[in-house]
Amino acid sequence: MSDPLPPLAVIPPGMSSLAAYEARAAAHMAADAWAYLQEGTGDDITVAENRAAFDRLRLLPRILADLRGGNTALELFGRCHETPVMLGPVAYHRLAHPEGELATVRAATALGVGMVVSTLASFTMEEIAEAARAAARELGVPVPPLWFQLYLQEDRGFSAELVQRAEAAGYEAVMLTVDASIKRATLTLPAGVEAANLRGMPRHRQTADAGGRILFGTPLADSAPRWSDLEWLRSQTSLPLIVKGVMAAPDALQALSLGVDGLVISNHGGRVLDGMPSALDVLPSIAAATGGKVPLLLDGGVRRGTDVAKALALGASAIMLGRPQIHGLAVAGLAGVAHMLHLLRAELELTMAQLGCPTLADLRPDRLFPQL
Ligand code: FNR
Repeated sequence: MSDPLPPLAVIPPGMSSLAAYEARAAAHMAADAWAYLQEGTGDDITVAENRAAFDRLRLLPRILADLRGGNTALELFGRCHETPVMLGPVAYHRLAHPEGELATVRAATALGVGMVVSTLASFTMEEIAEAARAAARELGVPVPPLWFQLYLQEDRGFSAELVQRAEAAGYEAVMLTVDASIKRATLTLPAGVEAANLRGMPRHRQTADAGGRILFGTPLADSAPRWSDLEWLRSQTSLPLIVKGVMAAPDALQALSLGVDGLVISNHGGRVLDGMPSALDVLPSIAAATGGKVPLLLDGGVRRGTDVAKALALGASAIMLGRPQIHGLAVAGLAGVAHMLHLLRAELELTMAQLGCPTLADLRPDRLFPQL
């Protein structure tokens, strides 16, 4: 197996889509890191479904719309976002590039795109927030919205500490991921890559033991987050609290009843339970059940501006990108992430103009065919 190519200093020719970055990225990552990034689980039914759901939908343009004053802006939790696209939480960006999350957040800052920083980031949340502030100063632009993604730790004290650190570092929302506490660990981290936020925190993640216990009866299963933990977390922070990994309307309603401020409709990029439907296919039922009370974000398989338009037409306020940010990072570091985000925004604006939608609010179900 040949060594991975180093990240490029300039954008290579032909990088005209997110798919082009994905195709190129493999050569720039170690084989095991690439496998970890791309993998789903089981037979990858859900990974395929995430793409297929977007590809099944058709768009229906309306003609002669007045596009003057058109824009892609939206407000989330009192903050203006230039586009309905965020960088979702992805662990260990240093697997793709030595500057890891620091390069990613600089690109997000340059493009005015919000970023959700993972509990499992390979730089600390403080270092990442500081890199965003320094880049914003240097470029003369605002610091983009930064949110912290929380994986609850077995010790509530450590979880509370993580949230307090996020508040102190200027993160503007907490996103609790609830769909991956029981997940196979598939990667041995290479030297130099670690969960920087968790330094000094005890973690036991064993599943099987000599007594024949596989999962039930082990600390992993016994300490898996429950509804009472969400209730507890709500009491720990006054920041907007978003739950990631919701796929069923009753769960959405229960989360809302506990005071949650937003939901991410997500199957974790098809990495946890194979056979789940796409987030896009369950979105309308959750949008109907929650009736616009809180913003709904969606992720999984978003690769085109047309995908963003489809998700918004079905009721999402914004989408998050998972793997594509790492593809951009692996190919060309900061420049690769920034270019990838620029491509998606350009595709979205083109799609909106062609659909006759000058604003995101115009992206409604009547732009889909057949109409729902
Ligand atoms: C993830 N995802 C994830 N989610 C989360 O809440 N915390 C995390 O630390 C991670 N880590 C992570 C690592 C890798 C390598 C991948 C690919 C994904 C899930 C992620 O936020 C998102 O839900 C999916 O990646 C979205 O699907 P796409 O855009 O990758 O198709």
